[in-house]
Amino acid sequence: MLKGLFAIKPITPAPHVDAGEPVEGSLAGEGSLKRTLTATQLVMLGVGAVIGAGIFVLTGQAAAAHAGPAIVLSFVMAGFACALAGLCYAEFASMMPVSGSAYSYSYATLGEFVAWFIGWCLVLEYLFAASTVAVGWSGYLNSLLGTMNMALPDTLAMAPFSVVGGEFIRTGAIINLPAVLIIAAISGLCYVGITQSAFVNSIIVAIKVTVILLFVAFGLQFVDTSNWVPFIPENTGPGQYGFEGVVRGASIVFFAYIGFDAVSTAAGEARNPQRDMPIGILVSLAVCTLIYIIVCAVLTGMVHYSQLGTAKPVATALEAYPSLLWLKTLIEIGAIAGLSSVILVMLMGQPRIFYSMAKDGLLPKVFGKVHPKYQTPYMGTIIVGVTAAVLAGFLPINLLGEMVSMGTLLAFATVCAGVLILRFTQPNLKRPFRVPGAILVCPLGVAACLYLFVPPFAEHWPIFVGWTALGMLIYFGYGYWHSKLRTR
Ligand code: ALA
Repeated sequence: MLKGLFAIKPITPAPHVDAGEPVEGSLAGEGSLKRTLTATQLVMLGVGAVIGAGIFVLTGQAAAAHAGPAIVLSFVMAGFACALAGLCYAEFASMMPVSGSAYSYSYATLGEFVAWFIGWCLVLEYLFAASTVAVGWSGYLNSLLGTMNMALPDTLAMAPFSVVGGEFIRTGAIINLPAVLIIAAISGLCYVGITQSAFVNSIIVAIKVTVILLFVAFGLQFVDTSNWVPFIPENTGPGQYGFEGVVRGASIVFFAYIGFDAVSTAAGEARNPQRDMPIGILVSLAVCTLIYIIVCAVLTGMVHYSQLGTAKPVATALEAYPSLLWLKTLIEIGAIAGLSSVILVMLMGQPRIFYSMAKDGLLPKVFGKVHPKYQTPYMGTIIVGVTAAVLAGFLPINLLGEMVSMGTLLAFATVCAGVLILRFTQPNLKRPFRVPGAILVCPLGVAACLYLFVPPFAEHWPIFVGWTALGMLIYFGYGYWHSKLRTR
């Protein structure tokens, strides 16, 4: 049985682009996918998938409740862990340019059981992230509607539950309706296989980055350096300020970096994946890190960190300065557009990872069904859309965000381990990009990701354990018996 559980899928080029192709959005087969993406477009794709609710929403909450102005350090910490994981993704993506991301990488290195577990973690990364970002989207939409005196009441724009000290409490709200509607609308687009062309993505990225740069340029003059003192507020309890709070903040804002790995799923459309995949992954990560650190410094300098724990902290900071109110509307529009593109990438990626797993026999065939006309994994898209909408409508953003981070951190840690393992088990594979000093970088990447995993796990472990148990149930109830690799 053990041998079966750890069966390894040989590394061969897949006959089709089978997972998370955020560019074409159809499963038409590699032959019909054009290799058009340049390195610049891949960087834009990465930035498009990365900048979202993390910086527009969670940053403020993490600063207010955990790190204070030292949220900047939290970003450096999370960025460091992502840089290590990014290097490892770059090695895999250039070596296996057509595959289901971390799921395929672990199938090729650590065996089926781990691959299943990582695939299950990727559900947290993609599906739950779509819900998280949708809740952020709802916050900014309602703020924009508010400027037109059309804001929805809290009962229709908030989750009915919130999590305080690990316990669910009722908020009095009924449902977060805008969050449900945006998931439904984008799922509809994914169903018909919208071509999220690199061109459209580039426009959205340009809008998103422009409003952020405007915020920095105009906000800078209102920075009051006394807001940065003390830089690391004194610890007031578990995970609240002090160094512990900075680490807690890092595990929350880690969410802001998620998405650079989605670049790896566009490998099938890259002109020169061997050279450009590492560029796309690493440059987009570097650009976002720089943007994040600057935005955090300005945000916490403009208003005291204790005021930033809102659903729309960037807009909140601007509200404090009447002369900047014009910019608030622009920021809201930029955030609404920018967050939509992140939701789209996530909602496209998830059904394609399920598709990949169904093709391997690990999930029921229904996830492998491709629409005859649109050539999209339409059943998977519907199931993912309904689930994501329910989560977005009823759960609070902090719980959703932490589930996403936990799943992604484990996937990243596995990718880091996988690179090192493959160096020993298959040293002669052609590696167009090699992680420099892998013997150090890979274990450090594993350690950094696990270090950030611990704080949210300590708080939400019952939910995470429940999620893992559900995954095991599905694997041993279905995947184990239907795995194509083992039953072949
Ligand atoms: N990094 C993405 C965001 O912050 C998921 O929305």
